[in-house]
Amino acid sequence: MAPLLALLLNLWLANSAFAGPTIKLARQAGACDNTTLSTVLPSGTYIERLNDLPNGNETYGDPFPNLGYPNATFIPAVCALTVRVTGPDNSDYRFGLFLPREQTWNRNFLAVGNYGQAGGINWADMGPGLKYGMATVSTDTGHSSPGNVLDWALERNRGALRDWGYRAVNGSIHIAKALTTRYYTLTGSNKTLDKSYWSGCSTGGRQGLKQIQIEPESLDGVLIGAPAWDTKRLFPWIANIASSFSPIGGPTYLDFSQLLFVTQYIRGICDPQDSPAGIPDGVVSWPEECNFNLNAIRCNSTGQTNCITDAQIETVLSLHADYVINGTTIFPGAPPGAEVTNPYIFDPSSITNFSLEYFKYFLYPDEANSPLWSNFSHFLDNEAAIFGHSIEANPGQATADNFDLSAFRNRGGKVIMYHGTEDSTVPTAETARFYSSVLTTTAGGSSATMDSFFKLFYVPGMGHCFPDSGTEQYVPWDIGGAGQPVLTPPLASVPGHFLDPQYDALAALFAWVNTTGTPGERNPHNITAVTWNATTSAEKSRPLCAFPRRAVYNTTRAGPIDQATSWDCPTV
Ligand SMILES: *[C@@H]1O[C@H](CO)[C@@H](O)[C@H](O)[C@H]1NC(C)=O
Ligand SMILES: *[C@@H]1O[C@H](CO)[C@@H](O)[C@H](O)[C@H]1NC(C)=O
Ligand SMILES: *[C@@H]1O[C@H](CO)[C@@H](O)[C@H](O)[C@H]1NC(C)=O
Ligand SMILES: *[C@@H]1O[C@H](CO)[C@@H](O)[C@H](O)[C@H]1NC(C)=O
Ligand SMILES: *[C@@H]1O[C@H](CO)[C@@H](O)[C@H](O)[C@H]1NC(C)=O
Ligand SMILES: *[C@@H]1O[C@H](CO)[C@@H](O)[C@H](O)[C@H]1NC(C)=O
Ligand SMILES: *[C@@H]1O[C@H](CO)[C@@H](O)[C@H](O)[C@H]1NC(C)=O
Ligand SMILES: *[C@@H]1O[C@H](CO)[C@@H](O)[C@H](O)[C@H]1NC(C)=O
Ligand SMILES: *[C@@H]1O[C@H](CO)[C@@H](O)[C@H](O)[C@H]1NC(C)=O
Ligand SMILES: *[C@@H]1O[C@H](CO)[C@@H](O)[C@H](O)[C@H]1NC(C)=O
Ligand SMILES: *[C@@H]1O[C@H](CO)[C@@H](O)[C@H](O)[C@H]1NC(C)=O
Ligand SMILES: *[C@@H]1O[C@H](CO)[C@@H](O)[C@H](O)[C@H]1NC(C)=O
Repeated sequence: MAPLLALLLNLWLANSAFAGPTIKLARQAGACDNTTLSTVLPSGTYIERLNDLPNGNETYGDPFPNLGYPNATFIPAVCALTVRVTGPDNSDYRFGLFLPREQTWNRNFLAVGNYGQAGGINWADMGPGLKYGMATVSTDTGHSSPGNVLDWALERNRGALRDWGYRAVNGSIHIAKALTTRYYTLTGSNKTLDKSYWSGCSTGGRQGLKQIQIEPESLDGVLIGAPAWDTKRLFPWIANIASSFSPIGGPTYLDFSQLLFVTQYIRGICDPQDSPAGIPDGVVSWPEECNFNLNAIRCNSTGQTNCITDAQIETVLSLHADYVINGTTIFPGAPPGAEVTNPYIFDPSSITNFSLEYFKYFLYPDEANSPLWSNFSHFLDNEAAIFGHSIEANPGQATADNFDLSAFRNRGGKVIMYHGTEDSTVPTAETARFYSSVLTTTAGGSSATMDSFFKLFYVPGMGHCFPDSGTEQYVPWDIGGAGQPVLTPPLASVPGHFLDPQYDALAALFAWVNTTGTPGERNPHNITAVTWNATTSAEKSRPLCAFPRRAVYNTTRAGPIDQATSWDCPTV
């Protein structure tokens, strides 16, 4: 997603004055070596690039422009590999692997996910994993592209699409684990691979869920943010929304400033409704429960300003509405107050045509050159059939909708899922839909069973994976989730709370998985989310309570509203 990555890149550049601690450790002679490592590689797989970086504080990534992801920065001494994998059925992808020095390796393995359809090794998110002491992997998913260009799906007789769907993640986890084991054996270490983790948001969330569905043995704990798990429905829903806004500049279109106006109006109404004693706390925690009426901002006369037209109101309502086809709700709407945060809609220069690309290259490859997909008319005339075809075809078999996670749970696997309540890219309600399906299918309706292996944390006011870049809303969002460390020094974990499971969701997952002796001892019932006010450097914090609990301000203690200690997670 271009705006997100632009944000990541900008913050990353802004932070580049940060100088982390330098760990100077000797090269591991003979271990970071093509010939000796390659003995564990399957046929068709080879090490494309290998660097033993001895000094620490390095930047590392692809030597050619990586269209999807920036480099990792300020990384400690490491053996860095790029591996190319070719396999049956036109499979061809790469992955990057960071192997920390034997002394700093914590015996664990971490795979990080991708964003949108951006093809490239996610070096940027691998950097933080390395700082925890994890051997860290990321795949390019079989293509190189920015998030809004999908023509690669035609490559290799659709092999590229299957790699993107699930094969590249699965294959790179298996092969990278073998390389990890081999490397630490070669170093003469007695350390063996212990646990394997996943961290990803959006597409990365989908990838992690898909992996525990197809290979439950391959991971022990997964941190899943805002998962785009239902791709076969999500993409046509995006087309439906984009078609409501279309054409750019037409009567139903809202530009960025108009969307911002709507968002600010709704947030102004909704903030006090879910704040203690009705006093605005700057966070719209539960937007779906808000009462508001867009008639208040309806234009009554021509030339009126600070209002939107009847046609534009219909567009906003279509964004919020459940999507109904053939009389059945097929996809949930976006939460009110998140209008401005959906980059598919308002940024015509980047992703507005993303859903047309989906039809051309994912769904109807035989019509890739057809003018049918130059606008939304054909889609609007045939919506039910096209949507039906998307569900049936499930391009790349990417959808992660096997809700039976019992094989994963039975081996002690843990899921921590989180989702911003102001997410209109993957509507927040998609996570509710996933959670309740697993509750029924895996846990037999028992919340105690869910509690023992699957924790869900809503992040009040957060947008898609990250703080909302459209409005600079000052809400606590940082829990060390996927990609989040890249926004803040020290580019690992949560600033000031490195590896603290109370603040760092990935550390909470490590602790939860690593309690084989005393199961449930460190089952995370709450995680503290934080953010900073750029003006004052003050930290704002709030507990995220494991679903179905919600944070409630304690009026007896009456502490500062912006501090987590003033809030409880009462039983419901
Ligand atoms: C790390 O690299 C940056 C950029 O090259 C440099 O400014 C900084 O001094 C280095 N920090 C250390 C601790 O070596
Ligand atoms: C590693 O060895 C393989 C097989 O000999 C070769 O194809 C590849 O180019 C080598 N990679 C590097 C980084 O030297
Ligand atoms: C990323 O790092 C590689 C070295 O690993 C370097 O060749 C490349 O120029 C870097 N890219 C950017 C954009 O800094
Ligand atoms: C995952 O990869 C492993 C190792 O290559 C392979 O044995 C397995 O069949 C793959 N799983 C799926 C579902 O493709
Ligand atoms: C590894 O284990 C062996 C056998 O237990 C022991 O002899 C050796 O000293 C150990 N090596 C290291 C580096 O701890
Ligand atoms: C238009 O009129 C309605 C009904 O009187 C009112 O509620 C609304 O605020 C008006 N719209 C604007 C933008 O003033
Ligand atoms: C979408 O926009 C990109 C970049 O402007 C362009 O290359 C591509 O052809 C467009 N796709 C469609 C389906 O119009
Ligand atoms: C709606 O019904 C039509 C006619 O039976 C069918 O072709 C289409 O696939 C259905 N669409 C969905 C999304 O269920
Ligand atoms: C797992 O827990 C054990 C026992 O508390 C501890 O020694 C070990 O360091 C932990 N492992 C990790 C990777 O945190
Ligand atoms: C940060 O704090 C200052 C001073 O209290 C306040 O004026 C400003 O609005 C705050 N910024 C945000 C983004 O909340
Ligand atoms: C509020 O805090 C007080 C003091 O810590 C505590 O005794 C009380 O149970 C809390 N109230 C609620 C409703 O949790
Ligand atoms: C969060 O969990 C910790 C550890 O169990 C507990 O001490 C704390 O009171 C909890 N915080 C809230 C707000 O419930």
